[in-house]
Amino acid sequence: MTARNDLKTYYIETWGCQMNDLDTQRLSGQLKLRGYRRVSSEHEAGLILLNTCSVREKSEQKMFSELGRLRAAKERGATIGICGCVAQQEGEAILARAPHVDFVMGPGHVGYIDEILKGTTRIAVEFPDDRRYDFVSIDRPSAVRAQVTVVEGCNKNCTFCIVPTTRGREVSRPLRDIVAECEHAVSTGRVEIELLGQTVNAYACPESGGDFASLLSAVARIPGVLRVRFMTSHPAEVTAPMIAAMRDHENICRYIHLPVQSGSSAVLRRMKRLYSREKFLAIVCELREAMPEIRFSTDVIVGFPGETDDDFAGTLSLLEQVRFGAIYAFKYSERPGTASLRLGGPVDDAVSTERLNRVFELQARIERETLEGFVGRVVPVLFEGVSRNDAAICSGKTEDSWTVNFIRPEHPPTGALIGVRIDHAKHHSLFGEAVT
Ligand code: SAH
Ligand code: F3S
Repeated sequence: MTARNDLKTYYIETWGCQMNDLDTQRLSGQLKLRGYRRVSSEHEAGLILLNTCSVREKSEQKMFSELGRLRAAKERGATIGICGCVAQQEGEAILARAPHVDFVMGPGHVGYIDEILKGTTRIAVEFPDDRRYDFVSIDRPSAVRAQVTVVEGCNKNCTFCIVPTTRGREVSRPLRDIVAECEHAVSTGRVEIELLGQTVNAYACPESGGDFASLLSAVARIPGVLRVRFMTSHPAEVTAPMIAAMRDHENICRYIHLPVQSGSSAVLRRMKRLYSREKFLAIVCELREAMPEIRFSTDVIVGFPGETDDDFAGTLSLLEQVRFGAIYAFKYSERPGTASLRLGGPVDDAVSTERLNRVFELQARIERETLEGFVGRVVPVLFEGVSRNDAAICSGKTEDSWTVNFIRPEHPPTGALIGVRIDHAKHHSLFGEAVT
């Protein structure tokens, strides 16, 4: 293999969750530090990276079909690398199946790209103890928001999920490193911090033992942080101190993504989600009691092995009851090595499709009602820049991540929190006029 440093352009395609997005930002920053230039088309790139997702079979298939296409790039001399969760899961098998791939690198190696770039390592899928988290070089795509990993990996064993295999055991970063990264982000103009982890609220500082509540408070207290958000919370890890920290800091968004997966306690037990339907609803209640204005979003799986019509009806009724603003719904997908394979096959595909469509229909209605519920109210919007379609219009996000386009005689500085009166609800966004 030739040294890869002489081909100084790179292209990265990213699939999957926020953690993968952030790994792309980290990889990109590392490459820029080493003199590489990012290009927006694979055709111009000397180095092509696919940062892959394996959470459902579909995303994995998509990667393999993309990979097939990249044979042409290989023929013109490009270097091709597979990163992310498929890399972790399939390792050598990728090289056997696609010999035009130059290297396979798992999520544990994002901080260690030098051996890869030298061309001396083709497979890097172990999890080094020191993950080498160089936050100064992260290539952040947003001028107002910084995503910050607080815990990598996952110690839960939801029976359907491959993430614990592909991302390893939980490793929390020291609280002072996280705070230092947030302060650095603020010094570069970022005013919104999004704390990330597969189970973000399982955070435990390896130095002080401090929990997620103490982390939330520490980040919320950093001068210049106008907003704190976090993703993804596990319902069984929502604690009274965490709720109190949210309540006590006005700059922590009144919003939580809380994946429920199913509204049936029997299914939740087989998924090993560690809570029942009743417990989930009790947590929602507690959060609402502390912060009446809090909004929720969730993930749902339909067609899990053994899911009956009654189980599914329980999911629909729970969605109606909680009224999540956004629902990400998926058909159960069998993943290699997961415990749910022993629970029998998925529900018949036609039935699952029908269930998924019913969730989508319900979601469309609730989303409409959610957006219409904003009309006439004044909400804080973090101004991110002018609208893509019209430079006269300002654009930003609500605490629960809805896009708001609005009119204001003078454009505010980027990153300002603006009060916007919502005049109408559009398809998936809101429109209004600034009042501050
Ligand atoms: N804690 C994670 C969850 C990772 S997977 C997070 O940060 O979001 C994201 C979502 O994908 C899960 O909440 C679940 O709804 C869905 N999912 C995971 N494994 C799946 C599978 N085997 N089939 C279908 N959906 C799945
Ligand atoms: Fe997956 Fe459950 Fe962890 S969904 S990421 S095993 S909390």
